[in-house]
Amino acid sequence: MKGLILSGGHGTRLRPITHTSSKQLVPVANKPILFYGIEALKEAGITDIGIIVGDTKEEIKKAVGDGSRWEVKITYIEQPKPLGLAHAVLTAQDFIKDSPFIMYLGDNVIKGGVKEFVLKFERERPTAQILLVPVLNPQQFGVAELEDNKVVRLVEKPKNPKSNLVLAGVYLFDSTIFKAARAIDYSVRGELEITDAIQWLIDQNLEVKSHLIQGWWKDTGKLEDLLEANRMMCDEFETKILGQVDENSKIDFKVIVEKGAQVTNSILRGPLIIGENTKISNSYVGPFTAISENCEIRESEIEHSIVLKGSKILNIHYRISDSLIGKHVEILGNQRRIKNHQFMVGDNSKIELV
Ligand code: TTP
Repeated sequence: MKGLILSGGHGTRLRPITHTSSKQLVPVANKPILFYGIEALKEAGITDIGIIVGDTKEEIKKAVGDGSRWEVKITYIEQPKPLGLAHAVLTAQDFIKDSPFIMYLGDNVIKGGVKEFVLKFERERPTAQILLVPVLNPQQFGVAELEDNKVVRLVEKPKNPKSNLVLAGVYLFDSTIFKAARAIDYSVRGELEITDAIQWLIDQNLEVKSHLIQGWWKDTGKLEDLLEANRMMCDEFETKILGQVDENSKIDFKVIVEKGAQVTNSILRGPLIIGENTKISNSYVGPFTAISENCEIRESEIEHSIVLKGSKILNIHYRISDSLIGKHVEILGNQRRIKNHQFMVGDNSKIELV
């Protein structure tokens, strides 16, 4: 079995971060989202992995390399334009050849892995198998209608969903999917939709089975979902202090302080992670916060947030929460606590003062 991870796309919902970076490389609990996918495939015994890349290919190649870090072999497949998930499948045909394969959306995070899902497919060998997850708001997703565990219909964002089971971003296919992707038309949003290709298989009376997810799943395409994925992954931490924490600091509950990090006169209330060589002084870092390497937090309060590498938050006397701060950002307050804001902000930025 081969693996196909989709790491192209537009990433419009995570702008402005995605103007300069790939959304699949945004870290969750200080690990790039894409790495969770590679690890899930490796754990299921899949070591021949193709990664679909688009505009951000160089950044992804640099971060992932040849896969030897995970003992897998990575092949990069360039998709000239992000024309849909079924288009990505067609782009990968030379790599997949006639092997069955698992397709994994590179911005999705799954806890509990995909091993069971793959084993079931290998045992039963349907034409396709989809991973489903029960949600409270199925209207926003691709919804599956089942009869005796067989998928009879897929409906994209239905107004009146007939079930609460939606497609998580993991699929198993045999090579019939190439025929299906060729048979369908572009949708109104101009993409070759994987749901249409799977529906085509169902309409040909081919067997499409489903599997209910055991752990949890998040599509991290939007800020609140990214923060929730970060929360779930931080919750898995166990305290590990490799850097320096002075005696005036207080550490509470699952806290990771990576090597070279320095914590001075601060409160760290986990679960949280402080990356390598990051400095925290006279500050409060609260639950579900992941601060990457080489950052500085001074005289500030932050919680439930992700801060990317090389950023500085200095003298911010309001608490920062529910935020995603890009790389090498500087958020500078005033030591005298004057309530005046001065901004120089780029296009498409979003700043909320609440
Ligand atoms: P989506 O999140 O559905 O699409 P997107 O990346 O274009 O994002 P947005 O809606 O915010 O503009 O894509 C799911 C995953 O598949 C994601 O990792 C990107 C990837 N992808 C491709 O590799 N090729 C494609 O043609 C598309 C549409 C997505």
